[in-house]
Amino acid sequence: MSNNKLKVLVARKTFPDIVDRLRPHFEVETNEGEGAWSQPELIARLAGKAGVYIAGSEKIDATLLDACPELRAICTMAVGYNNIDVPACTARGVLVTNAPDVLTETTADFGFALMMATARRITESEHFLRRGDWKQWAVTMFAGTDIHGATLGILGMGRIGQAIAKRGALGFGMKVIYHNRSRLSVDQEAPIGARWVEKDALLQQADHLVLVLPYSPASHHIIGAPELALMKPTATLTNIARGGIVDEVALADTLAGGRIAAAGLDVFEGEPTVNPALLALSNVVLTPHIASSSIPTRRAMSSLAVDNLIAALTGGTPLTPLNLIPS
Ligand code: 8YV
Repeated sequence: MSNNKLKVLVARKTFPDIVDRLRPHFEVETNEGEGAWSQPELIARLAGKAGVYIAGSEKIDATLLDACPELRAICTMAVGYNNIDVPACTARGVLVTNAPDVLTETTADFGFALMMATARRITESEHFLRRGDWKQWAVTMFAGTDIHGATLGILGMGRIGQAIAKRGALGFGMKVIYHNRSRLSVDQEAPIGARWVEKDALLQQADHLVLVLPYSPASHHIIGAPELALMKPTATLTNIARGGIVDEVALADTLAGGRIAAAGLDVFEGEPTVNPALLALSNVVLTPHIASSSIPTRRAMSSLAVDNLIAALTGGTPLTPLNLIPS
């Protein structure tokens, strides 16, 4: 009886009750391992599948699409989709959806927390304490930089950037400057006092710079040695976007030389491998790509991807499409 059902693949382990919502509609194969499949394995598992649920680590390119001609829908639980060649999907009539909005506030919470941990040296001092190195108190012990009243610089002022700006302006009395391809409207800028500035001015003026822009060939290493050299020696850099936005070798060198104060990184160029030069530094806070990781938000992201997959393959209207495929 299940033979008439379309087949779908859930390529990343996720909440079983959310996966179960696919079962009345489809024959479902799941990845029960914790990790991502290699592309050859993913291609093999996609044989005969009409749809796939993925996360940020599955590479969807022309090679995979050509090897999987029955694929009609690709639904990622991530908002970022730099792992998906959307034009190649569109050219082959494959619908793509992502998961915006549902993770905005949680990701902004984390970006702000990472910035604060970086500025106030929270993990560095905790490691010191755990090592048993705390023998006496001192006036300048782990003295960091202030968040309140400081200038918050945001590169990439989309939904998450704006949510971070709101936290800084309204919660911590920060001055907000930002750089983005397009300016916010006056109505969006006014409540948070946000001011658009050129990228160089952003780098020069920010006390705390947060990167929240999408990764693409145009944003590859958009923060490299020349950009880091413009920053204040007391500044911090927080990256919750994608690793490839920052030239990690240049960043490690800048941090080692004390040319900026510290960095907070949730994303890495070769993740899950982290550049050893970064691991060796004490003035960097490192987390394993968890900015959206609260249970309610990861459930909402998974749920949206599942809803999109059901709509895409049962004649419904996908909620958050990235391309338009004529039916
Ligand atoms: C995801 C993210 O958890 O949504 C994104 O773009 O970076 C994270 O929130 C991750 O990509 C899932 O693989």
